[in-house]
Amino acid sequence: MNIPFVDLRSQYLSIKKDIDAAISSVIEETAFVGGKYVDDFQHQFQELYGVKYCIPVANGTDAIYIVLKMLGIGAGDEVITTASSWISTSETITQAGAKPVFVDIEPAYYTIDPGKIEAAITANTKAIIPVHLYGQAAEMDTIMAIAKKYKLAVIEDCAQAHFSEYKGKRTGTIGIAGTFSFYPGKNLGAYGDAGCIITNDDELARKCRLFSNHGSLKKHQHEIEGINSRLDAMQAAILSAKLPHIHQWTEQRIKNAALYDQLLLNSGLGLPVVRPESRHTYHLYVVRSRQRDLLQQKLNEQGVSTAIHYPTILPLLPAYSYLSHKPADFPVAYQYQQEILSLPMYPELTEEQINYVAEVIGGF
Ligand SMILES: Cc1ncc(COP(=O)(O)O)c(C=O)c1O
Repeated sequence: MNIPFVDLRSQYLSIKKDIDAAISSVIEETAFVGGKYVDDFQHQFQELYGVKYCIPVANGTDAIYIVLKMLGIGAGDEVITTASSWISTSETITQAGAKPVFVDIEPAYYTIDPGKIEAAITANTKAIIPVHLYGQAAEMDTIMAIAKKYKLAVIEDCAQAHFSEYKGKRTGTIGIAGTFSFYPGKNLGAYGDAGCIITNDDELARKCRLFSNHGSLKKHQHEIEGINSRLDAMQAAILSAKLPHIHQWTEQRIKNAALYDQLLLNSGLGLPVVRPESRHTYHLYVVRSRQRDLLQQKLNEQGVSTAIHYPTILPLLPAYSYLSHKPADFPVAYQYQQEILSLPMYPELTEEQINYVAEVIGGF
């Protein structure tokens, strides 16, 4: 049996009529940039999240960059983030002009270790970017308490955590802003690049909207210099067509994870542990094995595609060699980078497919 790592086609086929109609409408109305489709999506997402503002932008990377810039973070500042994430989380700190300061992860949950944050704070620290990695909420109570004590902004990177929850609150609504990616493979994915920022802060929302559109809210009135980071109208229409299904898709991911949990219970693998009082939405189902490479090879030989998120932790990437970090600076994240393996995970995955993946692992 061949099981792809992600299967965007089966989701498309399940809602083909709506997606095709959405794309046609944008073309028929030549509503390519801005306008109704972008406004509609913005209001729908804002309402679903129960926040005052959703600022649609071109992608999840820009979302972080725009928030950092509009919080006034720049040269001479430091921003604390997790050692384990996609490079967008840290490269945007550098692009804003500040220095990324990496912190190790919690062994049980893969998210930034709140117990190690205070040691990383200096007089230059301005913000913390926790990442709700794989769909699991970071430990927000402690992070918010530290942020309050040191007067730091908290920007939640929700690129992998659409509709995840922490103690009854949606991730993305706890810090000053939440940033989202709608990259095609994400839990809510467009058919190209897309992203947004959510916030309840009037001033920040206004600034982000301004900056993402050449510094202007009204045509030809540029209050500041900005960038061109608008959500594409075609992507907005596609996202709106997908929104009515997002809760069911998220539930299905959670069900699929529960079946993996049950079937892999005695496999000897390290299985995902859900933070208490939280909702893990399984953007990725990540297991750990001391023989990860062999396991990956075996799965591959049997037709099961897997991936590694991420093969090198951020501080050890060549891009950060100037920071001179050693593996021993991030013992947990470094150990895990050699053990983690992401199994196929999407709502359309069938019981039969999950059973097959578990059987191959059992044979190993
Ligand atoms: C944790 C995290 N942050 C940010 C991003 C950036 O999103 P985008 O690819 O839409 O720029 C991603 C996307 O992979 C991500 O996984």
